[in-house]
Amino acid sequence: MCGIVGYIGHENALTKIITGLTSLEYRGYDSAGVAYVLDNQIKIIKKEGRIENLKSALSLVDHPTIGIGHTRWATHGEANERNAHPHQAGKFTIVHNGIIENYQELKQMLEKNGYTMKSDTDTEVACALFDFLYRDEKNVLKVLEKATTLLKGSYAFGILCSDDTSTIYAMRHASPLIIATKENEKFIASDIPAILEYTNEYYLLEDDDIAVLKEDSLTFYHEGREITRPKQIFEGNLETSQKGGFPHFMLKEIYEQPKVIQETIRFYFDGTKDSLHKNLPDLQSYEDIHIVACGSAYHAGLVSKSLMEEIANIPVTVFVASEYRYQKVFYHAKTLVILISQSGETADTLASLRKAKEAGMDTLAIVNVVGSSIAREASKVLYTKAGCEIAVATTKAYSAQLALLSLLTLKLALLHNTIKEEELETINEKINLLPKQMEDLIHNPQYQKMATSIYHHHDIFYLGRKIDYAISMEGALKLKEISYINSVAYPAGELKHGTISLIEENTPVIGVITDSSIKEKTISNLEETAARGARIILISKEEIDKVDDLILLPHTHALLEPILAIIPLQLLAYEVARLRGCDIDKPRNLAKSVTVE
Ligand code: AGP
Ligand code: GLU
Repeated sequence: MCGIVGYIGHENALTKIITGLTSLEYRGYDSAGVAYVLDNQIKIIKKEGRIENLKSALSLVDHPTIGIGHTRWATHGEANERNAHPHQAGKFTIVHNGIIENYQELKQMLEKNGYTMKSDTDTEVACALFDFLYRDEKNVLKVLEKATTLLKGSYAFGILCSDDTSTIYAMRHASPLIIATKENEKFIASDIPAILEYTNEYYLLEDDDIAVLKEDSLTFYHEGREITRPKQIFEGNLETSQKGGFPHFMLKEIYEQPKVIQETIRFYFDGTKDSLHKNLPDLQSYEDIHIVACGSAYHAGLVSKSLMEEIANIPVTVFVASEYRYQKVFYHAKTLVILISQSGETADTLASLRKAKEAGMDTLAIVNVVGSSIAREASKVLYTKAGCEIAVATTKAYSAQLALLSLLTLKLALLHNTIKEEELETINEKINLLPKQMEDLIHNPQYQKMATSIYHHHDIFYLGRKIDYAISMEGALKLKEISYINSVAYPAGELKHGTISLIEENTPVIGVITDSSIKEKTISNLEETAARGARIILISKEEIDKVDDLILLPHTHALLEPILAIIPLQLLAYEVARLRGCDIDKPRNLAKSVTVE
């Protein structure tokens, strides 16, 4: 989850590492540190808090050409300077992303052999293990190979050894790591944005690969043998990972949605049945679908369950990946398992994918990051065209998932004859109208005023039925993750079974109504809360009286309604968080890419 950057070349490694870490700070931001080589000695500097703190502690006169750096999202041990990476034990200095699951057991063994841990981290234990193995082996490569058989869990490591200060070693298992190159300069990084300022050429490390970086060579090893890995070129650009004049990445990414949705849809669908046939997988043989994902991607799955069941008449079960990987799952011979993930690296989703594959199921990944682990391991992959998403709270990647899932629904509906081919023309016209409708919603001037009326509350409820409940869940998550207000979504009819006792004078209740078939029911439920003093904000495609604030959604096809309905909820959350002075792009305790369990 944390960010790793390493550099070896002829320029100032500290500048390169700090630039890289700054662009990765969204991955973790509890503390940060660097280790670098000066006069053959390894020097470590680390600081609690943001990278700014580390930057001010760095010596401007040092000009190392080799170093490794880290920005941490704590899993083991408090977020403080002592636990910050790099960690050092004997001759080894390392940065680590992931969790060493058997660290307690290894720690006991190492303590018996004379090691005393200075931190509470699992990382320091791995570092001591390397040093311990080196006592006998005296060969770093062999030590790392041996360590892969002893370490359990997930790791991406950047490693320095004081006996060989002209080399950086890198290795990974179930945690992403890339090696980037630019002529004689080389980088290690946990994510592509870290290197984009300097190069777009990189190699992906596969599980259990070890890379050895020297100023004039780069070598890959796997299971004791030297191997080659294909060079990749990143097609995106640096601009997508910069703020472009917006105060926050989140706002920039919300504003990018009209373009992202158009690009995602048009990549697969040109208005014809043929394009769906050609560009989307053959779905003919499936009788039911499992959708597995986490967080917002799970919510996208819930929205599409509604669409697929109602419009395409196919049963869909949606699972939270952290449950799916361990629970008993019933597969049918004709079950398709769809995994949804922005990052393509979410540990639980990846494990669920492997479980489905082991059960012999066809797997389809909907992923944003090209070449990520989930994208590579699934039998089929469809990419959302959201570009690089930086804000921890997802917006454009979530709506791009909705767009792609709507196209899958459309393909299924044509297959099942629940939508006639003649309807394609109307749907295509609605798609053409979508960017302008999204723009209008984004520029609706009401959000600030609405936010002012609710930002000081401790509890906010979101109500909707069926698909509108799924949309509400994403709205509530957006608000709670960036504003720290306890916001919870309920199926509108469920509140009276307990939760309505929490409604007080002026408690904000946000209703979502896109599904006209249950409009009256939801309105009655909102009125029940209003009768107990609630302040009602409604997101709806129809004018409805007796609400305190109304955001009117433009009319479109049912397949596209969720893409419009989420925009007001994103912007309301953004404005509330802004009024509360929250750190919108880097909310407390969170990280962008959740590569640990
Ligand atoms: C949403 O704003 C969160 N950042 C989080 O719920 C996220 O959607 C979840 O962690 C899944 O991530 P993924 O799409 O990269 O798998
Ligand atoms: N487990 C390590 C720690 O707690 C690394 C966590 C991470 O991936 O950021 O320091």
